[in-house]
Amino acid sequence: MIARRIATLLAVLTVLTVGSLALAPSPAQAQTGGQVPGDSLGATSDSQFWREIRQGMPGQVSIPNARAGVLIQSEGDNWRAVRNGPLSVYGAWALLGAVVVLAAFFAIRGRIRIAHGPAGVTIERFKAVERFAHWLMAGSFIVLGITGLNILYGRYVLIPVIGPDAFAAITQFGKFAHNYLSFAFMAGLALAFVLWVGHNLPHRTDLMWMLKGGGILGSAHPPARKFNAGQKILFWLVMLGGLSVSLSGIALMFPFETAYFGKTFALLNVFGLQLPTDLTAMQEMQLNQVWHTAVAVFLIAVIIAHIYIGSLGMEGAFDAMGSGQVDLNWAREHHSLWVEEVEAREAGGGARRHSPAE
Ligand code: HEM
Repeated sequence: MIARRIATLLAVLTVLTVGSLALAPSPAQAQTGGQVPGDSLGATSDSQFWREIRQGMPGQVSIPNARAGVLIQSEGDNWRAVRNGPLSVYGAWALLGAVVVLAAFFAIRGRIRIAHGPAGVTIERFKAVERFAHWLMAGSFIVLGITGLNILYGRYVLIPVIGPDAFAAITQFGKFAHNYLSFAFMAGLALAFVLWVGHNLPHRTDLMWMLKGGGILGSAHPPARKFNAGQKILFWLVMLGGLSVSLSGIALMFPFETAYFGKTFALLNVFGLQLPTDLTAMQEMQLNQVWHTAVAVFLIAVIIAHIYIGSLGMEGAFDAMGSGQVDLNWAREHHSLWVEEVEAREAGGGARRHSPAE
């Protein structure tokens, strides 16, 4: 009797167990059976849902700022890693490299002298408006460069020396200077472009000047017009680089208003590239920041070399942007064709020379 009851109980339990196992959803079904939180967003599993959130998939928010619908923006991690990693490291090497190369050049070549000695007679090289444009551009660029480098490297270089409070005060002041002086730089850049673009178009003499390496290592000076090929390269680097840092700087100053990269990538895709064109506003900002910094650091390295050659590196050069008058022998050695042009005009009553007594 008892044995029959136990057998019946076991049979019922067996049926219940087998039945519940057969009816219960598998783990995979549990994720796909309509219970997934991201279902409405098109996710087909929990893991896919969270992966997409992790990769910045936007959800819906009821406030006007649609960007707040992005819960996690993982490109931010990549951007920070690039900015604080290779961008900062290569930038530091480029700046340090420029200084080391110039110091080595100075040690080997010394100061480039006026080969025939000063003539004691000067010739007008740059008018007041040209010097104004140069110093507006140069003065603002130097402040922008220093305050910009402080934003990139200040925390590593200055905080250990002056402490966080002084660093915060300096950086806040520097940030205002950086924002406002950018407009002075853009004005100087535009004025210099208008004044000098005509003198910076390629000319056949540039080829010869470059083939002779600008005469920088020997004592012979290849003929050059108002600007030699090296100066023309500098001019176009400053103009194109300056325009580029200006545009990306404006994009950083007025955030989320531009789509430079999406549009540029669409243009480049014409050449068969497969660059993404549907960048989010946040990705646009990150690319602007990386681009702004990379171009600016490159330009600073170039300008360090320019400042060297325009002051310490070459006797007689600074006067061109100081008083605007250069020694005639300096002019004949470095810009012989230009002197001939000026002398031809002078014969027609155009330009004037000054003796030191004037
Ligand atoms: C203390 C800083 C600087 C010094 C001492 C300096 C010096 C000079 C000198 C002497 C010239 C005339 C060269 C000649 O007569 O052939 C010149 C030209 C020029 N400078 Fe500067 N400069 C400085 C900063 C800058 C900066 C920051 C920029 C751009 C952001 C710049 C851009 C130019 C350009 C485009 C030219 C015309 C092309 C050339 O001569 O190379 N300069 N500079």
